[in-house]
Amino acid sequence: MKTIVIAALTLAAAVGGASLCSNATPRAFQDPEPQGKGKEDHAPDSVLESHMHGIEDALHALRRSLKDPAKSADSLASIAKLQTDAVVAKSELPRMLPHVPEAERAAFVVEYRREMVRLLEASLKLESAVLDGKPEPIQAAFEALRSMEDPAHDRFTEEEK
Ligand code: HEM
Repeated sequence: MKTIVIAALTLAAAVGGASLCSNATPRAFQDPEPQGKGKEDHAPDSVLESHMHGIEDALHALRRSLKDPAKSADSLASIAKLQTDAVVAKSELPRMLPHVPEAERAAFVVEYRREMVRLLEASLKLESAVLDGKPEPIQAAFEALRSMEDPAHDRFTEEEK
């Protein structure tokens, strides 16, 4: 089973690489949805970036709503929105993929996918905590989710040249 999964992800990575020398445009490098999302002052450069802005917006809303037990319906709605964006983002490929050495590309795609799975798992823990209604676990789960951003970006994004 593991072999099949890695083969499928490797194929996705190979398609990403193929874009460098063919007209085929893999989903990761397509133009994002035209309406864009979030508060960015420029149109997002990829479908992935557009959904990342969705995740960011949901976290901003959660920072406020999680402090107020009366707003747990709002919090659950924001978590559901974050999960929807994360599910779409999980199947995308980072824009930097063609810059990863070819021999490392398959592993890079697997690592990316794994990290997005962790993000979803963290969001489910937060959801459970909100359903339980206990403030301390809610804040701990929120911090765990929020703190994933910087290390993930260090690993899966690169400075624009
Ligand atoms: C935990 C909360 C996260 C937030 C709030 C977040 C937010 C964002 C935002 C706003 C962008 C747009 C560029 C920017 O302004 O920096 C972005 C880009 C990006 N993020 Fe995240 N992110 C999160 C987690 C992750 C995780 C876990 C991963 C990897 C598994 C990831 C991978 C990326 C990649 C690859 C891009 C560049 C877009 C592209 O390659 O097309 N992010 N993120």
